[in-house]
Amino acid sequence: MEIHISLVGRKDLAGEIYRQLRAAIASGKLRAGEALPSTRELATRLSISRGTVATAYDRLSGEGFVTSHVGAGTFVSEWAVRGDPQAVTADGKLRPKPLWEHVPVATAFYPPARYELRTGLPDVSRFPFQVWRRLMGRELRASALGPGYGNPLGEPSLKEAIARHLQASRGVAVTPEQVTITNGTQEAIDLIARVLLSAGDHAAIEDPGYMPVRWALDAMGMRVTGVPVDEHGLVVDALPASARLVYVTPSHQYPLGTVMSLPRRVALLDWADRHDAAIIEDDYDSEFRYGGRPIEPLRTLDTSGRVIYVGSFSKSMVPALRAGFIVAPPALSSALQTAKFVSDWHTSLPTQLALAHFIDEGHLARHIRKMRGIYAERHNLISQALAGPLSRHLTLIPSAAGLHVSAIARTACAEEVSAVTRRALAAGVAVQPLSGFPVTLTPRAGLAIGYGAIEASDIPEGISRLSRAFDSGSSR
Ligand SMILES: Cc1ncc(COP(=O)(O)O)c(C=O)c1O
Repeated sequence: MEIHISLVGRKDLAGEIYRQLRAAIASGKLRAGEALPSTRELATRLSISRGTVATAYDRLSGEGFVTSHVGAGTFVSEWAVRGDPQAVTADGKLRPKPLWEHVPVATAFYPPARYELRTGLPDVSRFPFQVWRRLMGRELRASALGPGYGNPLGEPSLKEAIARHLQASRGVAVTPEQVTITNGTQEAIDLIARVLLSAGDHAAIEDPGYMPVRWALDAMGMRVTGVPVDEHGLVVDALPASARLVYVTPSHQYPLGTVMSLPRRVALLDWADRHDAAIIEDDYDSEFRYGGRPIEPLRTLDTSGRVIYVGSFSKSMVPALRAGFIVAPPALSSALQTAKFVSDWHTSLPTQLALAHFIDEGHLARHIRKMRGIYAERHNLISQALAGPLSRHLTLIPSAAGLHVSAIARTACAEEVSAVTRRALAAGVAVQPLSGFPVTLTPRAGLAIGYGAIEASDIPEGISRLSRAFDSGSSR
C-alpha cells in the first residue's frame, strides 16, 4: 500500500521516517510481508537523501520490524508488532493474581487538615533539615558513593551506628551483623514474612491493629487472624494454635496505646516456644515516653531467639525518608539480608551513609530529646481534654508514650463515632475512629487521637470542634 510520510517541520528526518513506518506497521496499515518503498523511491518522493531513508530502514531492520533481501527489497516482518500500542486501553489484557484485587489498601492518605489529629504523623516541621542536607550533601559525590552499588548486606557504618543506638536507647545488645537495613517497617514486614512463611500460612496480629501489616500479609496470601488486646496487651490465650507468626507492638500498642505487661510478655514468649512460632516486635515510637519506667523491648527477654525486632526512623525523623531496620536472630539475619538484596539490592546509599553520621554525631538523640518535650506538652493537653470537655463522650485509655492516645466511646456505637469523625472533618479536624483498625474482630467504638502533627496552640480549638462534632450528633 502507498504509505504517507510527512516530514513537514521535522528535524530528525531519519528518526521521523522510522517512527511513522513503525507506527504504520504496529497499527496494521502495513501488513506482514508487505514491501516498503525502495530507499531510492522514498528519498525521491520526500526530496531527501537516500542515506537518510537507509538509516531509518536499518533501524527498523535492526529492531526486527522489517527484513531486507538484497535485490528484492525491504518487507514487513512476520513477527512485527500487531495492533496499535496507542490504542491499547489502560485496562489491557493482563490481570493480577486474584489476591491483589482483594488487598484493601488505604484510603487514609488524605490531604493535611487544619487540625490534624490523625495517628502516625510526626512533627516534620521541627526536623533539622539543614543538618540532614549537609550530611546528604557530603555523600552525594562520586568519591563517597563509589563507582557501583553499595554493600548488598547494608552499609556497615549504619549497621554499627544502629547497634550502638539500640544499646544506648533501648538496652538491646546486638551485633551489626544482626541488623538488616530496610525502607521502613513496611519493607521489614514483607522481608520477614517472605523469609519465614509460605502462602497459606497462618499469621496472628493484634486487633485492633496496624493495618499496613495486615495488607502486607494479605498480599502474600497468608491467613490473617486478629487477636484481642486488653489493658495488659495481646490476649495470649486467644492466639490460634496454628499461627506461625505473631505481630505485636508491646511498647505502645497500635492503636490502643497500652503497654504489654511483663506477665503477658513472658506468656507470649512461652507460647511462641510451645508453638514453634516467630514474634515480630514492632517498636515504632518507643523513643517518646513521658513518664513511668521505660519498658524494655520484648527482645531483651527472649532466650530462645524467637523475637524479630523491627525499628523505624519514621517517627523519630521523617516518614518520607523511608528508613528502618530489622534485628533478627543470627540464623535469620543472613536470609533477611539476601531477601533485601534480591528485592532492591539495598536502601539508598546516600541515605544510609547520612543516617549513620546523623546517629553517630548525636543529631538523632538531640532531635528525639527536643521532640520528647514538645510531644509531652501535646500529650498532656490531649489527655486533659479527654479528662475534661471530651469526658462526656470518651474514656481515655491511659498511655504515657508515643504520638497518639486512644479513647473508648462511653455510649456511642462504632457507626456513630464514624459519623462524628465525618462531621469533625467537615469542621477541619482529622481524627480516626478505632473502627478504622479492624483485623477480623468486631470493631471497637472510640477514637485514636494523634498529636504528632498539631501545634500545642491549635489543640484547644481542635478539641472544641471535635466536642461539637459529638454534640451535634447527640442533639439530632
Ligand atoms: C504501628 C506502626 N508501626 C510502624 C510504623 C512505621 O512504619 P514505616 O517504618 O513503614 O514508616 C507506624 C507508622 O505509623 C506504625 O503506626
